[in-house]
Amino acid sequence: MGVEGISKEQNLGNLVRSSHSFGAEFFFTIRPDIKMKDVRMSDTSEAHEHMPFYNYDSLSDLKLPRGCDLVGVEFLEDSIELPSFKHPTRAAYILGPEMGNLSDEVLDMCRFTIKIPMKFCVNVGVAGALVMNDRMISLGRFAPRPVKAGGPTEELKQEKFGLRRFSRKAKTS
Ligand SMILES: C[S@@+](CC[C@H](N)C(=O)[O-])C[C@H]1O[C@@H](n2cnc3c(N)ncnc32)[C@H](O)[C@@H]1O
Repeated sequence: MGVEGISKEQNLGNLVRSSHSFGAEFFFTIRPDIKMKDVRMSDTSEAHEHMPFYNYDSLSDLKLPRGCDLVGVEFLEDSIELPSFKHPTRAAYILGPEMGNLSDEVLDMCRFTIKIPMKFCVNVGVAGALVMNDRMISLGRFAPRPVKAGGPTEELKQEKFGLRRFSRKAKTS
């Protein structure tokens, strides 16, 4: 997870904490305008101790792992609506500043730009948590929702990795 141009320590602390809790592999900021000490005060989960954290002065310094798609999260007319978006397996999400949007420079770098369908923009920390929650629901493996209201009635089917390899008949010559 990452943010461009964030200026409120509490928002960053909030997003870092949610990222830690959702199991993000790393966190980054581009051109932040904050005091890192105050971020730590609003992140009581001490995410900094558990997750790599990178501060970049410029977008050109951002290095993503190989094969990792940058996904912009921005409330733009032509952004893909989150409920219809298939998350890439390897993805880094970038959110914008409290005032304004993600810069054109960042949007140009994004493979996809997504939005949460709403009447208007919400707090950056809330938007980040909604995206991570959607990723967890759509890519995570959970027991299916039942037809009637309530908890699951079926167990999650176990994936059978390597089934083909193990069930292949021995060659006879
Ligand atoms: C508070 S918003 C920025 C202010 C907003 N551009 C405005 O002037 O109305 C901060 C960031 O949260 C994210 N965000 C908030 N609501 C969003 C939504 N519904 N869909 C996608 N991103 C959203 C975007 O990354 C945005 O840049």
